[in-house]
Amino acid sequence: MEIKLLQLLSQHNALSIGQLSQALELNTLQTLAIIARINKLKAGSVISHGSNYTLSYPLNWLNQNKIEELLQAQKLDYQVHLLSQTDSTNSYALKHINQLANKTIVSCDWQYAGRGRFGRHWLSSIAHDLTASIIYDFPADFNLQLLPLLCAVAVNRLLKNYRISNQIKWPNDIYQANSKLKISGILVENIFRDQINHSVIGIGIDNLANWERNQLLVDLVASLDHLINEFKLFGFALLRREWLDNCLHLKHNVKILQHGAIIARGIHSDIGEHGELIVQTATGIQNFSSSAISLRLD
Ligand code: BTN
Repeated sequence: MEIKLLQLLSQHNALSIGQLSQALELNTLQTLAIIARINKLKAGSVISHGSNYTLSYPLNWLNQNKIEELLQAQKLDYQVHLLSQTDSTNSYALKHINQLANKTIVSCDWQYAGRGRFGRHWLSSIAHDLTASIIYDFPADFNLQLLPLLCAVAVNRLLKNYRISNQIKWPNDIYQANSKLKISGILVENIFRDQINHSVIGIGIDNLANWERNQLLVDLVASLDHLINEFKLFGFALLRREWLDNCLHLKHNVKILQHGAIIARGIHSDIGEHGELIVQTATGIQNFSSSAISLRLD
């Protein structure tokens, strides 16, 4: 109902509570409760203007035809699976992995229980931010350990093309350059079945400049597609260099955490050929490859 109400306000600019209730086939109180729920998600989204309700900012809906046209224009052969709302595009993709082909994009206008690494929540605004999961099937010998780092390079490139100055934090977070503002998060989840790695690459991007979301989604897929092809053709060496050149914390003092506890401190000196984090500690060089590790500036 939240999506339906927002779509009505998107189409009609301003509507009275009576008009909204009639269109939603609800009573006034139920309609007001939905408006309250929307405003709880993002304060001040729906505002009253005299006796009418209106949106405080324009919404930017995903559109299947538009996405398909844009994909075709870039010669990208992907299936598009759009949802108006879902708990998490990653959860949806994992749940339906048997029905979703290689190179399927799952995206939605409202992800209400987005998931991040370490079970964290990922919050995004309805019809404003981008939340998508892209499914790729890889052969059994594909180095999945590198996939999060490859995705980080792809998103980093994309945002640079969108004129954002951004950097990568190990292994795959994207931050605004030299700041504490995280603008994109990546959650890669894999299922191995019948000798195939089904990878679900979940990406959330904060829509910093009100970018057109259909275009943003297709540009994201183009960047990923290009990068995966580059990796298949040329390997990780050059991409590793690009990752390092864009690293937020390289040569900085960092602390390494596991399950919330600090397990090492030192200088983030490098990443290995398998994407592992390399830290120069007081007692020597240490490598960390576990996905249960997180890194903070010390
Ligand atoms: C992180 O920063 O820890 C990763 C965040 C990943 C968020 C994206 S949004 C699309 C996809 N669906 C999810 O539930 N999570 C990922």
